[in-house]
Amino acid sequence: MNYERRGAPAIRGSFTVPGDKSISHRALLFSSLARGKSEIRGLSTGGDVKSTMSCLSQLGVKIDHAGDVVKVFGEGKFSYSKPDSMLDAGNSGTTLRLLTGILAGQKFESTVTGDETLCRRPMQRIVEPLSEMGAKIVASDNMTAPLKIFPSPGLRGIRYELPLPSAQVKSSLLLAGMFADGETTVVEPVESRDHTERMLKLKKVKSPSGFEITVSSDLVIEPAEYDVAGDISSAAFFLAAGAILPNSSVTARGITLNPTRTGFLDVLVMMGAKVQIENIREAAGEPIGDVTVMHSELNGVEIGGSMIPRLIDELPVIGVMAAYAKGETIVRDADDLRRKESDRIVAIVDNLEAMGADVQEMDDGFIVNGTGRLHGAEIDSYKDHRVAMAFAVAGLAAEGATVIRNAEWAQISFPEFFDILDKLAVRN
Ligand code: S3P
Repeated sequence: MNYERRGAPAIRGSFTVPGDKSISHRALLFSSLARGKSEIRGLSTGGDVKSTMSCLSQLGVKIDHAGDVVKVFGEGKFSYSKPDSMLDAGNSGTTLRLLTGILAGQKFESTVTGDETLCRRPMQRIVEPLSEMGAKIVASDNMTAPLKIFPSPGLRGIRYELPLPSAQVKSSLLLAGMFADGETTVVEPVESRDHTERMLKLKKVKSPSGFEITVSSDLVIEPAEYDVAGDISSAAFFLAAGAILPNSSVTARGITLNPTRTGFLDVLVMMGAKVQIENIREAAGEPIGDVTVMHSELNGVEIGGSMIPRLIDELPVIGVMAAYAKGETIVRDADDLRRKESDRIVAIVDNLEAMGADVQEMDDGFIVNGTGRLHGAEIDSYKDHRVAMAFAVAGLAAEGATVIRNAEWAQISFPEFFDILDKLAVRN
């Protein structure tokens, strides 16, 4: 599908976004590990979370998703049944990596795969530490999926220092730790999103090496009622449009304000946008609130180091904002962007260039010299949901018409995106 639109003078109004993708995956997986019925409200409607649901169904987990409330009838960590065919994680790295942690502890053989893009993404980051725990995993060429997971004679706990900040790797190892003899400790020198720790009520201990989280086979996951917070990574697209377009004001209602996810709001403030946070409350152990962003003159910023994991998924739209900011925006320490659903450094740089921005590629990021204007162009989504949506925002602010090719990839995390964008955009 091609999405075509002309620029709009402003964006105005309030909106809600579907449930957070990271929390939704975990709510499903953790419910399946519990014994009893869990209820999930506000589950993400995206394709990635559907992939988690269908993998769990293939493993024999009963899930009722007929109404607004998704019910998961978990029967405990050894209740899964051997799947008849390969488990398909689709485009979802979170599904594949977290599920592999659970499958490593099972007494049956399974194979987990994904679409063309996911099968190109690196899996060594989980295969190596899981193998160190005693898991029997055979990866395909270049340490990619499909991953064949054989029953192991027994997993053992390890202490593992993450070489890169990754909540997917951390969570995969903590889940495998539920099946291991002894304690499994994951050490994060740089903090990544902590939904797993919050939802499983795991202690995060600060030590000289960073943050340490420990699990053992004693961990019992109880069935729960989850109210999934709105996804800040989805809301970010409209909040960015509000910051860029003159006379704009947009409010995202009920989005997660978990500090490991709010780097984007910090960048908005650093750039000079007007940001108001109201009605702070709690949902499923996460702080949530309503966030309003109003346009004002934006300035370039430098982003790197420990900020990166707090806004990793927002970097494509930050690239677009940078084109509308005065001066230079530098993003560094973000080389893992090259191993997301696309090489996002290339996607950001090429697409911004196509729209007339002054942008430079670096190995671990990019530099945008803001000119305050973009022109419409034909843009490729790179089959990457966040690239499709970031450049739809660019199209809203640009002069002339923009076409996003393969825009349907937005459905991976946010099927409602284009409808909400068209509703919030003020007509010429
Ligand atoms: C996620 C963690 C991040 C993020 C991804 C979702 C998660 O990936 O980019 O969209 O739910 O754990 P990494 O853990 O690979 O950094």
